[in-house]
Amino acid sequence: MNANELRQKYIDFFLSKGHARIQGKSLLPENDPTVLFTTAGMHPLVPYLLGEEHPAGKRLVNFQKCIRTGDIDAVGDQSHLTFFEMLGNWSLGEYFKEGAIRMSYEFLTSPQWLGISHEKLGVTVFAGEEGIPKDDESAAVWRTLGFSDERISYRPREDNWWGPAGATGPCGPDSEMFIDMGKAPCGPDCAPGCGCGKWLEIWNDVFMQYNKDKEGAYIPLARKCVDTGMGVERTVTILSGKKSVYDTEIFAPIIAAIERAVAGEAAKKYKYGTDGEKDRSVRIIADHIRASTFILGDPKAVMPSNVGAGYVLRRLIRRAVRHGRKIGVEGRFLAPIAEVIINEFCGPYPELEQNRALILNELEKEEQRFLETLLKGEKEFEKLLPNLLKDPKKVMSGRLAFRLYDTFGFPIELTEELAKENALSVNRLEFDAAFAKHQETSRAGGDQIFKGGLADHSEITTKYHTATHLLQKALQLVLGPHVAQKGSNITAERMRFDFSHGAPMTKDEIARVESIVNEQIERDIPVTMEVSDLEAAKANGATALFGEKYEAQVKVYTIGDFSKEVCGGPHVEHTGTLGRFKIEKEQSSSSGVRRIRAVLS
Ligand code: ALA
Repeated sequence: MNANELRQKYIDFFLSKGHARIQGKSLLPENDPTVLFTTAGMHPLVPYLLGEEHPAGKRLVNFQKCIRTGDIDAVGDQSHLTFFEMLGNWSLGEYFKEGAIRMSYEFLTSPQWLGISHEKLGVTVFAGEEGIPKDDESAAVWRTLGFSDERISYRPREDNWWGPAGATGPCGPDSEMFIDMGKAPCGPDCAPGCGCGKWLEIWNDVFMQYNKDKEGAYIPLARKCVDTGMGVERTVTILSGKKSVYDTEIFAPIIAAIERAVAGEAAKKYKYGTDGEKDRSVRIIADHIRASTFILGDPKAVMPSNVGAGYVLRRLIRRAVRHGRKIGVEGRFLAPIAEVIINEFCGPYPELEQNRALILNELEKEEQRFLETLLKGEKEFEKLLPNLLKDPKKVMSGRLAFRLYDTFGFPIELTEELAKENALSVNRLEFDAAFAKHQETSRAGGDQIFKGGLADHSEITTKYHTATHLLQKALQLVLGPHVAQKGSNITAERMRFDFSHGAPMTKDEIARVESIVNEQIERDIPVTMEVSDLEAAKANGATALFGEKYEAQVKVYTIGDFSKEVCGGPHVEHTGTLGRFKIEKEQSSSSGVRRIRAVLS
């Protein structure tokens, strides 16, 4: 079975169980300052898991593009990926443990669907902890489906609780499904969930029962929900009898494209599958360029930069370039690989086709920049070399290595490589210390900022959310109807709003926008919501984000006679609660896009 068939079967199965298909969302979360990327199918659904009504109903199914960078250093082994696709189904207050588990089991084992043999399956359930009981209910359902006690493993929070560590938002115990890979057990305690390689996780049913608040308290949800996630790449690996995700048809054309890039003499010496270390480099390139292609091809794409998601993108591209050099690639090689990725995935993700030129162009630009950086760094190293060689201990100081990194962007791994070639070593501890200090001060790094939790829907962020609508409309009134939202980011301290406009705003324009927004706040006008057909909403004058994927049925938020926008919410009920609106800064964001930072007080 290939990925296309798997996606289709999953959607068809849940449609047959009364679910509505919803669109996957952007990889770049809107209005969520706590993560840089969408990390799971549930992420864009957080407001609905916390109680909002979803316009498509109470049973939902989709596939969602995701990025997780927490394990970036493990990428290149047999199973780790940064970009992956997640299949998911949700119950918003309808079925709970029994319904979810029975459907999961049917989809996995029925010959009409995946047809995995019952004998190969094992499951885990939550073992319980102080204040939260062990999940005997789920275990009982698995037992009625024919699972013996050895195939049901009770496991602690680290394994069977969902909701990222330290995060606020919906969370609860989960029950995970595993495939027995046929290896001998690693010991007497080896059971489903054991990390020895015998059991491979295939699906996770999460039973959302609580909202974890800022103080860390678990508040029971009025409406219990189900959130499930099945990894496309892993499942295809299992169903096609492969050992590694990188051996599946998902990656085969990408790896073939990388092989084509290894030209000339190097190609005679190396073919994929013949050299463990180089094979790993090939897998890293395949993963990183796939992730980069999806980030650049997203409707809310970010460009390579030194902060936030743009910094992750830059790291992915540069790391791919470095590994290209390890396998003997000379010069630029990323664009043809991205072409193959676009061709492979533009069926389910048409945005890749729409953004083809931009993806290829940006990849090439960043690649070129990095190649120049490498050249400069190498030259600089050569200048330092005579002095370095005089050191009797043959150690390059970490400070010096850090200077190469800080001034020239030269990666520490390359400094170490060059050092090694000259029989030198680098004081890595000293480098790491300097690097950590720099990270703290520049706050440039950090893959995922789980500070405030998954999605923050506190009172203050809700206010900022409504203020965003007022601001957009006011900008259109003052600057013209060409103003469209390009991005938005809200924290408890401020809002940031990116919009299309070709010139800096004048002082007078800023003052007028502020006064219009404050006027609407003083009028204390009601904010109302209705569910409507997307096309009808647009025909009625509702603003929708260009390039965003919407369902057929959407929520439309109307602020009195002032503004009408398609939006997931939540919003305040009356504008009067917003306080005073002030624009603190107006600056360029990128070409043709301005950025406003504003506060409510
Ligand atoms: N949200 C759950 C996960 O990502 C299903 O595993």
